[in-house]
Formats: sequence, C-alpha cells, structure tokens
Amino acid sequence: MNYNKKTISDVELAGKKVLVRCDFNVPMNSDGTIESDRRIVETLDTIRYLKEQGAAVILCSHLGRPKGKVDPKYSLAPVAERLSELLGVKVIFASDVTGADAAAKARALLPGQIMLLENLRFDPREEKNDPGFAKELASMADVYVSDAFGTVHRAHASTEGVAHFLPAVCGFLIEKELRNMVAVIDKPDRPFVLILGGAKISDKLPVIRNLIDKVDVILTGGGMGYTMIHALGGKTGASLCEKEMLDEAHDIFFECLERGIKIMLPIDVCAADHFGPDAEYIVTYADRIPDDREGLDIGPKTRLMYAREIASAGTVVWNGPMGVAEFEAFSGGTRAVAQAAADSSAKTIVGGGDSAAMVQSLGFADRMTHISTGGGASLEFFAGKELPGIECLLDK
Ligand code: 3PG
Repeated sequence: MNYNKKTISDVELAGKKVLVRCDFNVPMNSDGTIESDRRIVETLDTIRYLKEQGAAVILCSHLGRPKGKVDPKYSLAPVAERLSELLGVKVIFASDVTGADAAAKARALLPGQIMLLENLRFDPREEKNDPGFAKELASMADVYVSDAFGTVHRAHASTEGVAHFLPAVCGFLIEKELRNMVAVIDKPDRPFVLILGGAKISDKLPVIRNLIDKVDVILTGGGMGYTMIHALGGKTGASLCEKEMLDEAHDIFFECLERGIKIMLPIDVCAADHFGPDAEYIVTYADRIPDDREGLDIGPKTRLMYAREIASAGTVVWNGPMGVAEFEAFSGGTRAVAQAAADSSAKTIVGGGDSAAMVQSLGFADRMTHISTGGGASLEFFAGKELPGIECLLDK
C-alpha cells in the first residue's frame, strides 16, 4: 500500500469550502459529558491551519454506533462545544447531517468559519458507503480532507465514498500517524519488541503474520496469552480463550520459534474467582489455572520478565492491555508494561484503545514516541491490511 499521500500543505485552500472527516468518536460519560478529548485535541493543528489558510471548514464525524437512526445519546453537540472552547471561536453546529440545516449552514459558511455536522451514522447510508450520500456530503465542499485516522479501516461514505467526488488529501494527524508507524515498520531499531494483549487473539495474529520477518521478540498477554497457552496444552481454567483460533495460535507459536523469534507467554497470572473488580485472586502458574478460576492479569514474575525485554528494546510496538486494566486490582500488568515502555529509550508506538488510555492516565504520554488515535485502525495497519480511508487519497 502507498502511504505517501498528498496533504493539506499540497493544495490551494484559500476561499475553498473544505469537508474534513475527523474521528470525534470520543469516550462519553453517562451524564453526556466527554470523558477524554484526546481525539479532538489531536485534530486542532489541521483545523487551525485550514482556518488560517482562509478555508471555510466543515467538520464531520461519527460517534458510537447509533445504527443509522437519530439518537440524541450519540449527538455530536458536546463535541462542537468542546471544539469551541479549545479553538476559542464559535463552532457552528448543524442539527442534521446533509439535511436542510446542514446544507443552509454550509452554504452560508464564510472563509475562516468552522462548522460541525451532526453524527454521520444517524444516516443509514453512511456505513453502506452509499454513493448518493457521499455525493450529498461532497456537494457541500470543494476539497475533502481526511484526518480521521481512527476510522481509515472503514470504507464508509465519509471515509472513502466522498473521495470519488472531490480532490482528497490528508490532514496533519493522518500524516503524523503514518510517518511514525511507517518508520518503525521500514527501519526498526533492534531488538524490535512487539507487545500484544487485549481480549481477542483473532485480530492480533494477522499482526504477527505481517511482521514475522521484522520482529525479534513478541510478548503476549490478556486473552492472546491464554489462547496460546491453551493451544500448547496448558490448563487455563475459565480464562478468556478463542477456541476456534487454537490451531492457528499453536502453529504461529512454533513458526516464531523456528524463525528465531523470542515469543514469550505469561509464566504466572492473577487467577480470579470471578470476573469483577472485587474478585479475589491467587497468583499461580499460567498453565495451571484451576478450572473455576480465570486469569485477569499477568503475574509479578511475568511483569519483571517483560520489563527486562522492553528495557533492552530498540523499538516497541504495543497494542492491547495485559489484563482487565479497567479493574484497579487487575491493572498491575498493564501498568508495569506502560512503566517499562516509558522508562525505555526505545522508539515506542502505542496502539489506541485501552493501552493508550493506560499510558495517558499514568501521565506517560510524553515519554512515548507516538500514541496512535486509532485502535482497530492501527491494528489493521500493523497487520498490513489495505486501509480504504488512506487508499482513496491522492498520491504525492
Ligand atoms: C474507533 O473508535 O475505533 C473508531 O472510531 C471506529 O469506530 P467503529 O469501530 O465503530 O467503526
């Protein structure tokens, strides 16, 4: 895939109406306030630049999965408010996506002004990549800018379809994400340590497959680790395990060994009596978990073992927590990995989602080379999959 795409620096913007696809899919609190505005903050450079260049800026995004229906719970109105605060200018909010309000406000938008459309996924045509809907979006603007790195793995009307109707370039966030991630893939400093955790092994194995010629060490945790241990004949009790992936997990483990890759599994775990923040746990061997217990975190010996590998790494790519990090009692493994990555002098790239949230909550963000705003998108990038939201942009 060609990642060398035109950016907003390569096109004429003065006096143009510019449609910008952002990923404002931010975590929300139950009272409707924004829990983390990182994805909003990360797009500010692009928005400010467009404004300075004299473009009229029409922002759009999805929030959550409202399934093609208008649902006030998923309104982007709080995002418009937060954007106004961050930019220090009023961000005009349209109460619909491509309806009468959006069309009128887009028509009246002046150079330097900024507006935000309502949640794209309120329209069922968005996720179907409906050409009619893409055309409606495109008709509001002269140029299309994609800065929604978190959504580039989706071929939706606003991420892919619209690029068929307008000159399409990327914003500074996508440019930064690609620059950092392509650099580690192309020329990793050695040893290259890949840390894979999280619930599902099925979305992590393609990453191992794609990077098998490049990585030196693989550290596994979470459901990823238990599935591997189970595949090798260990007793993982009631731990998360993707049964349909056992053969593939088994084979890839041995393929790594054959190629001289140091693939490491947890040696000890916190085995809980049930799934919950208040669960009682024992620390036991990772392949001897009693039937009525489930591993909810890697144990202290594994934390030390993994920290040693990270300390001597040249490159670290990390995606997925080591345990159920949202439960304080089972966040120790993920914290230990975050601490080791922060302390290491390696280039550190953290995939989005839970691992990124942990790094942020511990205040380590500045000590990482790059924290991606994309969860699924960064995984698909490292798995070498085609990213339709990048593919559709103009080549440099
Ligand atoms: C994300 O949070 O990973 C992106 O915003 C994509 O959201 P989606 O998985 O609902 O398409």
